[in-house]
Amino acid sequence: MSYFISLEGVEGSGKSTIIQYIKEYLENKGEAVVVTREPGGIDIAEQIRSVILDKNNTKMNNRTEALLYAAARRQHLVEKIMPSLSNGQIVLCDRFIDSSLAYQGYARGLGIDEVLTINEFAIGSFMPNLTLYLDLDPRIGLNRISKNKEREVNRLDLEELNFHVKVREGYEEVSKRFPERIVKVNANQEIAQVLSDIQDILSAKMNR
Ligand code: TMP
Repeated sequence: MSYFISLEGVEGSGKSTIIQYIKEYLENKGEAVVVTREPGGIDIAEQIRSVILDKNNTKMNNRTEALLYAAARRQHLVEKIMPSLSNGQIVLCDRFIDSSLAYQGYARGLGIDEVLTINEFAIGSFMPNLTLYLDLDPRIGLNRISKNKEREVNRLDLEELNFHVKVREGYEEVSKRFPERIVKVNANQEIAQVLSDIQDILSAKMNR
């Protein structure tokens, strides 16, 4: 079954743990699943990722940042996401366009419409079939991350709490714009409950 799911949320909302669970869940139902991430997922986009997230790139302009994310997204889409869907696989992507709308469009203040426009140049009208938005107070998310010593700290992690609070507000705005596609999940619960909520959503949306 070809189906494209993106996962979104503030730092520390649990996307990478949850994506592995969804992969296993769908594979147990006989589906072929590809897990990938943005920015990155393929070589060229991983190279762009290292430029965007490099802690030394303190001079990076907000528009440059938005354009680099869109460029990485274009390459990832044509090189990995579209071919996987054409093969009948389910694609699970850790972040996609809504990250750009919430982080660059809203939190950086570039404007959700403006960032949507440059992303339309990158991906046309191609959108995920379903977006799971893991909603969490960024204070809790950042606290979780600070306890995980193995996680790399990137340029955006170093932003003040206020920036991450704005990202969450941005996600709320973006969710209102795409109510059919984006489903909010309360990530401030025991992991078993979060997973059970997601299972219900997958059953309802994908009949899986
Ligand atoms: P992550 O792999 O830890 O989620 O790091 C990626 C960072 O990049 C994270 O801080 C969110 C940010 N980001 C954007 O600001 N815009 C985007 O379009 C994407 C995909 C990620």
